[in-house]
Amino acid sequence: MIKKLTQKDLICHLNMPIFEIIGEEADALDRECYVVGGYVRDIFLDRPSKDIDCVTVGSGIELAQKVAKRLGRGAHLSVFRNFGTAQVKFKGMEVEFVGARKESYSHDSRKPVVEDGTLEDDQNRRDLTINDMAICLNKARFGELVDPFNGIDDLEKGLIRTPLNPDITFSDDPLRMLRAIRFACRFEFRIVPDTFEAIARNRERIRIISGERIIDELNKIMLCEKPSIGWILLQRCGLLQIILPELQALAGIETREGRGHKDNFIHTVMVLDNVCRAEREAGKEPNLWLHWAALMHDFGKAKAKAWDDKVGWTFHNHDYLGSRMILPVFRRLKLPLGAEEKFVEKLVLLHMRPINLAEEGITDSAIRRVLFEAGDDIEELMMLCEADITSKIPEKVQRFLKNFKIVRQKMQEIEEKDRIRNWQPPVDGLEIMQRYQLTPCREVGILKDSLKDAILDGECGNNREEALVFLDNKAHEIGIL
Ligand code: CTP
Repeated sequence: MIKKLTQKDLICHLNMPIFEIIGEEADALDRECYVVGGYVRDIFLDRPSKDIDCVTVGSGIELAQKVAKRLGRGAHLSVFRNFGTAQVKFKGMEVEFVGARKESYSHDSRKPVVEDGTLEDDQNRRDLTINDMAICLNKARFGELVDPFNGIDDLEKGLIRTPLNPDITFSDDPLRMLRAIRFACRFEFRIVPDTFEAIARNRERIRIISGERIIDELNKIMLCEKPSIGWILLQRCGLLQIILPELQALAGIETREGRGHKDNFIHTVMVLDNVCRAEREAGKEPNLWLHWAALMHDFGKAKAKAWDDKVGWTFHNHDYLGSRMILPVFRRLKLPLGAEEKFVEKLVLLHMRPINLAEEGITDSAIRRVLFEAGDDIEELMMLCEADITSKIPEKVQRFLKNFKIVRQKMQEIEEKDRIRNWQPPVDGLEIMQRYQLTPCREVGILKDSLKDAILDGECGNNREEALVFLDNKAHEIGIL
């Protein structure tokens, strides 16, 4: 339900002095000026916003300069001459000024051909009816809503629709296909069939859009309350196959001898929603990288899938195979390649470990091992594993959740006792090389790993003396002592 607002109500919403000042400066220049787009939409949705877009019939830069001057010392002006826009930052608000434009794009480029236009021209070239409402700031018409495409009605009904023929709107800027899906996901709105069909028809045009703009939209979808809505729409219109074929490859069910496996695409987006819900329930801020880990956790399943006459479908090793896919996908999607990528890769690699623990017996050494490998990311790993239970059989879900509770309890006990999470073995590689007069070689790795394993498995005490005895024995065994 959106708020029904009269002009009087809108005047109340625009009661910050900055709107009056903009209107007065526009009047002084004898120009029309409107607040447009997302800010207006969000007034009706009752979502406070600090990003304000203003359009004026004439130069946006000139108006911005006047407004900044009038606001005085607290205001910061940035001018983007190439784009014909300017921004004024004032008291935590960001106001973008742009001159009303007529714009069209040549077929194979994002470079617009821009001409000055009227408010009507400007509204004709915007993306969606719900983003296409304007409120006048000039004194004589202050608070008057200009809504030529009945965006208010679409907002009320929860509909995503382009103002013009969608083929034109999307081909002008193909990123708008992703924006349409992003807004459908964020507000849980429905994309009208005409608009959705145009997305499917124009999907190939997304290839002219830069990776940076695409990932910006995908990240916004990822931070919605129910990102599954966005990913399912991307799958249905065929954009997923172009943007993220690794996820598309998980879609569908294959049946053999009457035995099907689950649709791993649907399972994946359910896991993603589960993670988001768990964060909310725990009062945590959304962790974008945990969301990406959830989306990618089963990527390896397409490659790992095999049929076994005795047990049916299997996906052995999909965790390892999936983890190997993360870096190339991050690179292609222009996601950051530092700690964020490592975190996702680690979670994908380890995501079966807690469930195997819960199923196959919870030994101290297995717990120590997971704690060591997950390090500080153990909580996120546990959240992912709990979210991974999407079975429809309530008894099964209960059994898993009960086992996870035991795993968590055991982890806490062992962590308190052994402090494994940020642990390093008491003898490091350098000392091993000095002790056995080795240069870097395979044997150093063998000694290092076997010491680590022995301590994690409880076969060697976690102290220098016992570690050195263990290492000497091992060095003897492999023939270097
Ligand atoms: N717009 C457009 N086509 C685009 C991007 C933006 O027509 N590809 C228009 C829309 O009218 C939009 C406005 O520019 O409302 C401002 O865009 P932007 O700040 O990116 O989005 P908002 O709609 O303000 O949404 P958000 O809440 O995500 O900031």
